[in-house]
Amino acid sequence: MEEKLRLMLKAAQQAIANAQDLEEINQVRIHYLGKKGELTRILRGMGALAADERRNYGQLANKIREEIEEALEKQTNVFKNKEKQERLAAEKIDVTLPGNVFYLGHLHPITTILNQIEDIFLGLGFSIAEGPEVELDYYNFEALNIPAGHPARELQDTFFITPNILLRTHTSPVQVRTMEVTTPNIPVKIIAPGKVYRRDDDATHTPMFHQVEGLAIDRQITFADLKGTLQLFAAETFGADIRTRFRPSFFPFTEPSAEVDISCVMCAGQGCRVCSQTGWLEILGCGMVHPRVLEMSGYSSEEVTGFAFGLGVERIAMLKYGIDDMRLLFENDLRFLAQF
Ligand code: PHE
Repeated sequence: MEEKLRLMLKAAQQAIANAQDLEEINQVRIHYLGKKGELTRILRGMGALAADERRNYGQLANKIREEIEEALEKQTNVFKNKEKQERLAAEKIDVTLPGNVFYLGHLHPITTILNQIEDIFLGLGFSIAEGPEVELDYYNFEALNIPAGHPARELQDTFFITPNILLRTHTSPVQVRTMEVTTPNIPVKIIAPGKVYRRDDDATHTPMFHQVEGLAIDRQITFADLKGTLQLFAAETFGADIRTRFRPSFFPFTEPSAEVDISCVMCAGQGCRVCSQTGWLEILGCGMVHPRVLEMSGYSSEEVTGFAFGLGVERIAMLKYGIDDMRLLFENDLRFLAQF
């Protein structure tokens, strides 16, 4: 009996030492200590023994069971530790590796300039109006005193969608759309920022660009109001020292009309490559709203007058930032855009 138990202990210790993983340890446990295991089988044979012998062997059997359990426990811990080490090794991260860089975006330079322009005019009491980019011939031309066949249509080569619908060539149609809903109320003071489209494509023209339209209507608005407003705009945008010059010009929807130049931002009027040695840079068109335009949109040209202007946002951005090719603004090359 004793011999049997000792042999079993030996065999169990051997099996535990040979086990490769937790699963095999468990097999060993079942094989020796389970309900139908080796130990139970040996103990069954004790029924035939005398009482005092049974007690002795019982104690020995318990000791051996404890020993096996201890050995099992020990080996289980070894495997559990090994597992833990492996998991830790697998989860290890190298905290000295360079991290992933998250790039923060920022506003497009055109948006920045647009916001600045809007702020200036909001400060002067103008509010913001909007109109569609896909526009009716009526608003883009007809109601602005540019009838079909008028040579002024040639100035703005156009993307037509149908003979009657086109991509607006300027923001001036918003003048008409505004007057239609405000008439006969005064005063009207709006700016209309937005995209416009023309069949142009070179270093200083892109097929899509941005304008900000301005319109003011009230009793006794004069050309002096227009000059004061635009001089203030130029000073706010380019600095207090900037000078403006109003050159007579022609637009079918204003009379008189003017083009506004500012003293060259590069050479302060001395003459350089940017201003073609003239000392001046053209930034916008403007004038007093033509009486026909007022009347067509419901205002009495006897009672009210108005001024209007339209400025090119890209042109202002190029002058402010010293950009010499307008197309750069829309190629979306981050090496360019990240500079602003
Ligand atoms: N719409 C004109 C253009 O795009 C600019 C302009 C606006 C001129 C308002 C006079 C008055 O060229």
